[in-house]
Amino acid sequence: MACSVIAIDGPAASGKSTVAREVAARLGYAWVNSGAFYRALTWWMLREGRDVREDRLASIEARANFDGTEARLLVDGMDVRQHLRDPEVNRHVSPVSQLPIVRAIVGRELRAIAAGRDCVIEGRDIGTCVFPETPFKFYIDASPEERERRRREQGESDSILERDRLDTGRTVAPLEPAPDALHLDTTCLSIEEVVRRILAAIAAPRAG
Ligand code: CDP
Repeated sequence: MACSVIAIDGPAASGKSTVAREVAARLGYAWVNSGAFYRALTWWMLREGRDVREDRLASIEARANFDGTEARLLVDGMDVRQHLRDPEVNRHVSPVSQLPIVRAIVGRELRAIAAGRDCVIEGRDIGTCVFPETPFKFYIDASPEERERRRREQGESDSILERDRLDTGRTVAPLEPAPDALHLDTTCLSIEEVVRRILAAIAAPRAG
């Protein structure tokens, strides 16, 4: 039987990671944060310098590894998790994510992961572009004010509304709900309630 993919997309600080990690834990699935993959590649590109060439980028080793049930992207063999939330990475990750070569590297790795295991994958384009065939699609959102408040509470310097603007406005794999995604506004919902609704939707027999 083919492996299951639960796609959870949504804008910055909408609560995707907490919810995705919890849904994965309850189902015994792997948890894959595709944003962390884009962040790892962004950190690597910043380190390489402004004029990193596309052929150099195409030749890097970018392979996912599992740390328990969490997928991590190793770039040129390096685990860069301590840099993923650097202010510089926050600033550059959306422009870097628009590069088709970067999307191809991450997309290929996500498909390789999902070929071997059931997983919950969170991101911006998981239900629309990477796994449009999965019947399990969720779009998680919250008001801009609430999302900014949540990010501030995490103590990060991060212009999330600017990232949202770039992520929704790009031509390649823009952030948008898949037409068949279940839309959840988490502004006034607890994590537990969001997780409960997702698990209920997965368990429910689907029409058609
Ligand atoms: O900070 P937050 O958790 O909201 O974002 P993230 O999931 O870590 O993603 C960081 C950035 O990576 C996004 O702003 C997008 O530019 C990019 N991204 C993407 O283009 N496609 C994905 N599937 C996931 C992330």
